[in-house]
Amino acid sequence: MTAKQRNTVYQHVSVAGPEPEIIGRAGPVLREGGLVAFPTETVYGLGANALDAGAVGEIFTAKNRPADNPLIVHLERKEQVYNVALKINRTAEKLMSAFCPGPLTLVLPGRSNLPVEVTAGLNTVAVRIPDHPVALALFREAGVPVAAPSANLSGRPSPTTGEHVLEDLKGKVDMILDSGPVGVGVESTVVDVTGDIPLILRPGGVTPRQIEETVGSVELAPGAAGNYECAGGKPLSPGLKHKHYAPSVPMFLVEGITENAVKVIMKFICEYKEKGKDVGVLSPEESAHRYSNAKVVEYGSKKDPASMAVGLYSALREIDSLGVDIILAEGIGSEEIELAVMDRLRRAADKVIKI
Ligand code: TXA
Ligand code: MG
Repeated sequence: MTAKQRNTVYQHVSVAGPEPEIIGRAGPVLREGGLVAFPTETVYGLGANALDAGAVGEIFTAKNRPADNPLIVHLERKEQVYNVALKINRTAEKLMSAFCPGPLTLVLPGRSNLPVEVTAGLNTVAVRIPDHPVALALFREAGVPVAAPSANLSGRPSPTTGEHVLEDLKGKVDMILDSGPVGVGVESTVVDVTGDIPLILRPGGVTPRQIEETVGSVELAPGAAGNYECAGGKPLSPGLKHKHYAPSVPMFLVEGITENAVKVIMKFICEYKEKGKDVGVLSPEESAHRYSNAKVVEYGSKKDPASMAVGLYSALREIDSLGVDIILAEGIGSEEIELAVMDRLRRAADKVIKI
């Protein structure tokens, strides 16, 4: 189905004090079946009334998203979780107290009142309370649970600025609320808490260590860090099986000891240059000067791993716009927030070279 043409209202909103007049216009659009893109602390989201099957269906059309990939239901307050989830065990409760609002999504036993468009027919529901004043003001005004994926075209990097949303979804959504760049830069951590031990389905803004410190244990689902080959062909989170964030030209990711990775990338650059190809390199700030023969886009500093998360998606969009023939990406470690960064890079890459 092709997306219906919409008149997209693009609106700046203050993070410090979301203007009541603007929120007062956006809330009813959302409640009454429209599509509103909004900022969160992780990435921008594209929201629809989660109880309105038709509106949720329009999200899939606007993004060109596969129908078997369920959506996260966004709430304003913790008490509202019982409107969409059936049971909350002790583990889930502890995680909610620690990280809601925050970059955490909990997969819980779902209520049957939710449209199949939200849950993709699963008997669970993914729930999150974002830590962002504009998102929370919008949800309060809308007065409904809000189903929202990231506000990008399916397959493209998630949007970390309002301009990214406009680039992908102009004419496809009713309203875009722009509050400037986000703070975290990668999506929320998706954790299945239907059992006693929390299972990370997608690494994100809350790290495995933070979860372990809160509830005493944590497991990483097979394939959850972009290593498809360990997933035995059946990812636990439906979103994990689709290729994500991918630039439009081939991208090779080189991971391992930095000095070796740099040498491998330099060798690739020489080989491609000899064939007359234009090469782009996605690089941490620290090694950027080593790739003098290529078009280099930095994605943050290794001294500050949070900056790598913040810069990643912008850098992927930028390098894709340079018109190079091939992209080589230098990987980083996989501790803490770096795990989420590496997951996204692995899923964006056509080939992962481990050295
Ligand atoms: O930070 C975020 O999580 C952003 C902002 C907008 O909140 N949202 C986001 O949504 O990244 P999306 O749709 O791009 O990713 C949602 C992920 C997908 O991998 C999906 O498969 C998984 O959550 N998911 C949703 N419901 C699920 C469920 N019931 N069981 C397992 N995985 C689920
Ligand atoms: Mg997404």
